[in-house]
Amino acid sequence: MHFLAFEGLDGAGKSTLIHGLQRELEAQGQANVMTREPGGSALGDEVRELLLRVQDDAPVPRAEALLYQAVRAQHVERLIKPALAARKWVLCDRFAASSVAFQSGGREINEDEIHWLNGFSTRGLQPDLYVLLDLPVDESLKRLSGRAQDPDRFERENREFHERVRTAYLRQAQAGGERWLVLSALETPVRLQELLLSELKKRKWLN
Ligand code: TYD
Repeated sequence: MHFLAFEGLDGAGKSTLIHGLQRELEAQGQANVMTREPGGSALGDEVRELLLRVQDDAPVPRAEALLYQAVRAQHVERLIKPALAARKWVLCDRFAASSVAFQSGGREINEDEIHWLNGFSTRGLQPDLYVLLDLPVDESLKRLSGRAQDPDRFERENREFHERVRTAYLRQAQAGGERWLVLSALETPVRLQELLLSELKKRKWLN
């Protein structure tokens, strides 16, 4: 059992990859839970609504940063730690690295402060592996414009914002060594699945 977090710009294809891995884990009889941030608990789902809303009283950057952390603390204690204790794989759509990418990179809050907050809410728990689906900003914007639903607060941000988010992801991956796997989100879903499975096999986490 291992804790994997999937990261990337919106539209990178995280959910398709997570679902593909989940099918493989099921086929191998490996217990797992699939979860996401913001979310992963009833409290998380409610706060998610506050975070993504576009109305007048949308959270200011520092309120936003703290709301993500509150959701994360709840998620770690109530879902992630119990699942790992029960020897289940945890596949998480976004985790602490999203706060560094979006609140520090995107919103330009001091990075050390976000790292400190991440440590506080997770009590130091980190994924065994971060899978970054790296996507050029142009392609992310193109994929998002093809989606039917209303854009949320992040999807409405300008290109520079998304460039800073992408850069902050790549910097974390570079500094993170073995804990990070960077895949090009321009690959086909089938190829991405193959690349991920072969990495997990290489690490002897999967047969
Ligand atoms: P997500 O659930 O990926 O949105 P969608 O369902 O539209 O794919 O996440 C919503 C947004 O929250 C996403 O744009 C990134 C942002 N986010 C942060 O800014 N900080 C964080 O710590 C997390 C977990 C997410």
